Amino acid sequence: MVYTTDRVFTETGIFVEVVIVPDSAAGGELIAEAMADLLRRKPDALLGVATGSTPLPIYEALAAKVAAKEVDASRARICQLDEYVGLPAGHPESYRSVVLREVVEPLGLNQDSFMGPDGAAEDVAAACAAYDRALAEAGGVDLQLLGIGTDGHIGFNEPCSSLASRTRIKTLTQQTRVDNARFFDGDIEQVPHHVITQGIGTILEARHLVLLATGEAKADAVALAVEGPLSALVPASALQLHPHATVVVDESAASGLKLAGYFRATYAAKPDWQGI
Ligand code: F6R
Repeated sequence: MVYTTDRVFTETGIFVEVVIVPDSAAGGELIAEAMADLLRRKPDALLGVATGSTPLPIYEALAAKVAAKEVDASRARICQLDEYVGLPAGHPESYRSVVLREVVEPLGLNQDSFMGPDGAAEDVAAACAAYDRALAEAGGVDLQLLGIGTDGHIGFNEPCSSLASRTRIKTLTQQTRVDNARFFDGDIEQVPHHVITQGIGTILEARHLVLLATGEAKADAVALAVEGPLSALVPASALQLHPHATVVVDESAASGLKLAGYFRATYAAKPDWQGI
């Protein structure tokens, strides 16, 4: 099946678009093409990136498009969604290091085109406010990539985060620290307890939200986020408030969706997509 971004990424203002793809590589390719398409229209677009395992196929696919000269990303600007608090500068698992390694360098960008919250700031509250200001002064995020936690978080807005929250410090749940221990040699003790994360209100200001979820472990969270009630218990359900939110899921992550058949028919296989 062929998925085209003009069909998938143009509908706005109705409800969350759910696109079911066979696997994470297909999801990465689809979203990378949406980002490339945006960069062709707006070469200096501000792209909000997420970390973790899920978005890696997106970054690989986008870097391949740049290498193949399908898109010029040289003026792209990149911003982080979140950052650990308390890791030493340059720690390989700080999200700054991860985004430099996985996104900024493969796209051939320099560090000036990249911004993120300062996880080492002495005055964390001031650093959070400064980051929200910097995003606004940069003209706002054009496309924000998101992953989803098994507990339904987006960014690190853990369950019961305010749906109107701004960038701030949050305490990670035990579940998230367990999930992220794999990046720290499997040792949960090394996983920081705190992060700075864009708030849900901050995230909702991006012009287009694109969430990728893959694997069965995400199925319950995806179903609750897309089909459940809007609830602070499931922060990702805030996507329902956004006029242009796209959720791309592989078959496993889609396995809890009651409306999977409807989503398949509406968002991937319908030839006259733009007319919906
Ligand atoms: C990371 C982030 C988190 C992750 C989520 C899923 O910047 O914002 O919300 O997207 O924890 O992580 P993975 O993709 O590793 O399952």
